[in-house]
Amino acid sequence: MSKNILVTGGAGFIGSHLVDTLIEKGHEVTVLDSLDKQVHGNKQEPPLYLNKDITFIHESVENYDIAKKLIQDHDVIYHLASIVGVGQSMYEIERYVKKNMHGTSVLLDILANCEHSTQKVIIASSNTIYGEGSAKCNNCGIVKPDLRSESQLSLKDWNIYCPKCKAPLKPILTPESRSFNSSSIYALSKQVQEQMGLLIGKTYGINTTALRFFLVYGPRQALSNPYTGVCSIFTNRALKGETPLIFEDGLQTRDFVNVKDVCQALVLAMEKKNAEGEVFNVGTGCPTTIKQVAEIILEKTNPNLKPIITQKYRTGDIRHCVADISKIKNKLGYEPSVDFREGIVQLIEWIKKESSLEYCNNINLANEELEKKGLIK
Ligand SMILES: NC(=O)c1ccc[n+]([C@@H]2O[C@H](COP(=O)([O-])OP(=O)(O)OC[C@H]3O[C@@H](n4cnc5c(N)ncnc54)[C@H](O)[C@@H]3O)[C@@H](O)[C@H]2O)c1
Ligand SMILES: [Zn+2]
Repeated sequence: MSKNILVTGGAGFIGSHLVDTLIEKGHEVTVLDSLDKQVHGNKQEPPLYLNKDITFIHESVENYDIAKKLIQDHDVIYHLASIVGVGQSMYEIERYVKKNMHGTSVLLDILANCEHSTQKVIIASSNTIYGEGSAKCNNCGIVKPDLRSESQLSLKDWNIYCPKCKAPLKPILTPESRSFNSSSIYALSKQVQEQMGLLIGKTYGINTTALRFFLVYGPRQALSNPYTGVCSIFTNRALKGETPLIFEDGLQTRDFVNVKDVCQALVLAMEKKNAEGEVFNVGTGCPTTIKQVAEIILEKTNPNLKPIITQKYRTGDIRHCVADISKIKNKLGYEPSVDFREGIVQLIEWIKKESSLEYCNNINLANEELEKKGLIK
C-alpha cells in the first residue's frame, strides 16, 4: 500500500537514492532538507539528481513549526538529516551539536507532544559509534580495544593491543551488542540521535528502528564536501592525475557498503514488522584495507600512479571496524548485492561526469585546516 513518507536530509547522497527507491515502489515522498552549503554549495537549489516526483521543502529540521506540520501529514519518517564530517566535528562542536542533536530533538519533541499519524521512524546511525571495532586476543578472548594512544601513534605503531594483557589483537566482526566508544563529536551526535530516537519510540509506542551504516559509497556522494567519502576523494584525485594520500600504513580496514544496499536495508526496516525497536548494522561483513581501495581505484583510473603511504595519522582514527551483519540478514532478510569492484566502477563513471577542480582544492584546504588544528600529525 502506498504510504506518505517524509525523508529528512533527502537531498543528500543516501537520501536521494532512498527517495528514488521509494518513488519506484509507489510511495508519496516529501523531502525536508536545509541544503547544507558544504554539501550543496552556495546556490541553495535542490540538486539536479533529486527525483522530480517529490515535494521538496527547503528548511532545517530545527524549524519546529514546519517540522510539526510535515510530521502530522506523514505515516513514515526517515531521519537522515545530519552534517557529516568526523574531523571537522572536533572543532565545529556547536554546529554539530545544533544540527544533529538539536535537530533530532525537535522531531522527537513533536512526536512526543503533538497529534500525529506517524507509524514508523527510521534513524540513520553510524559505525563510528563503536570507535575501534571488536578484536580477539589469544590469551583473553574477545575484547573491546581502546583507542590507540597519542604516544603509541607518535611512534608510528599502528597496531591494536589487548587492553588486558597488551598482546597484539586480531580484528573480528563487530556486532550490534558491542558497547559504544565514540571518538568524535560527530560520532557522539549519531549515538545520541539513535538513542534518543529509540527511547522516545519505546516510551510512546512509536515503531522506531536505527540503522548503523558503515562506510557508504556510490554516485552522488558530495564532491563538494571534503570531509567525507574516501572512495570519492581517491577517485577524484586519481582522475586529475593526483596520487591518493593514505594515512598510517594503509593496512587499516573498513567495511564499504554500496548505497544500493543501504537503500535495501532502509526499505526492509520500514516493511518488516520485526525491525521495531531494534538497531542493525548495515555493511557487507567484508574487510577492505585503505591501500586496497587506492589500488583498485588507480587500476581503473590511472594505473601509472602509485598511492603515497604518508605514515601520518589523524587523531581519533580507528584501525579496524567491519560489520557483523548476521542480525540484519537473519531478522530482515538483508543480503548485500553489490561487489566492491563493480560499485567502484559505477562511482568512477559518475565522478568522470561530475568532477570539478574546485573540489580538489577543497580537499587540500580541509587537510590543511585539520593539520592547523593539530588533528593530523
Ligand atoms: N555516507 C556515509 O558513509 C554514512 C555512514 C554512516 C552514517 N551516515 C548517515 O547517513 C545520513 C545521510 O548521510 P549522507 O552520506 O547522505 O550525507 P549528505 O551530506 O550527502 O546528506 C545529508 C543531507 O542532510 C541535509 N541536512 C543536514 N543538516 C540538516 C538539517 N539540520 N535539516 C535538514 N537537512 C539537513 C544536508 O543538506 C544533506 O542534503 C546521515 O545521517 C549520516 O550521518 C552516512
Ligand atoms: Zn589479552
